[in-house]
Amino acid sequence: MALRLSRLGPHMGIVAEGVDLATPPDAATFAALRAALLDGIVLCIRGRPLPPPTYVAAMGGFGAARSQLGLHRRHPEAEEIMILSSEDRDEKGDGKRIVVGAAWHTDDSFMAEPCSLTILHGVRVPEVGGDTQFVNMYAAYDALDEETKRRLAPLRVIHRYDSTRKGNRITTRTAEEVARTPDVDHPLIRTHPETGRKALYLNPNRMEQVAGMERAESDRLLDGLIAHATEERFQYRHKWSPGDVLVWDNRCSMHKANADYPEGSRREMHRIIIEGTRPF
Ligand code: SIN
Repeated sequence: MALRLSRLGPHMGIVAEGVDLATPPDAATFAALRAALLDGIVLCIRGRPLPPPTYVAAMGGFGAARSQLGLHRRHPEAEEIMILSSEDRDEKGDGKRIVVGAAWHTDDSFMAEPCSLTILHGVRVPEVGGDTQFVNMYAAYDALDEETKRRLAPLRVIHRYDSTRKGNRITTRTAEEVARTPDVDHPLIRTHPETGRKALYLNPNRMEQVAGMERAESDRLLDGLIAHATEERFQYRHKWSPGDVLVWDNRCSMHKANADYPEGSRREMHRIIIEGTRPF
């Protein structure tokens, strides 16, 4: 079968068809998939649900899988995979339902070297709802006026796992997990290491404060930038088909899961995250 690539949305999203992930794609196919990802920011490889070790092996060409914080379930057949499920509960806390990633965010910005890519495999997807939404952070940056770009260029933002600004409830964490996530600071405008393009680097879940700026002014600035970046014109919304493998670039996008599927309908995603480098 030959690889076919086509656009999903007007400014982000590319779908790849004709790739059988039962065996890892060859070097030429991976080169084409990586180029499509850099161009489209979100890449959907259509397929069918895969056994966990097969899925992990097939994704090897995107880079080294990183071990994920032990907040959610690690797959018993493949330690690289975290299971994100409609059945997730805060087992160490109040036992209530947890929907991972239901607010806009980019993955792992609380780390000094946040992951570059996230890969999500839709093993079970609801018939209604459960889409994943994305925003193009290159486009959000490009749309700023030149004076604002100049003003933001030198700013750095402190990212904190348990940010006091975040809207979502996070699962209870052990003292060891807390100790592993000290505050870090990142540029507000980052340069993509592969494309050289500039992108706004925001994470509403984890940003605490602009470094050196008074809190109220920092809150106003961050709130304004989040409202700008999440405008409809920068968005792509992915409707899942069973077996989709969705790869996205955290260095130039934000995303969120939609928890709008009916009670009792199952959603199961297998997530892999790929090593990244320090933002600059
Ligand atoms: C995530 O934020 O990593 C999960 C997104 C989703 O489940 O749609």
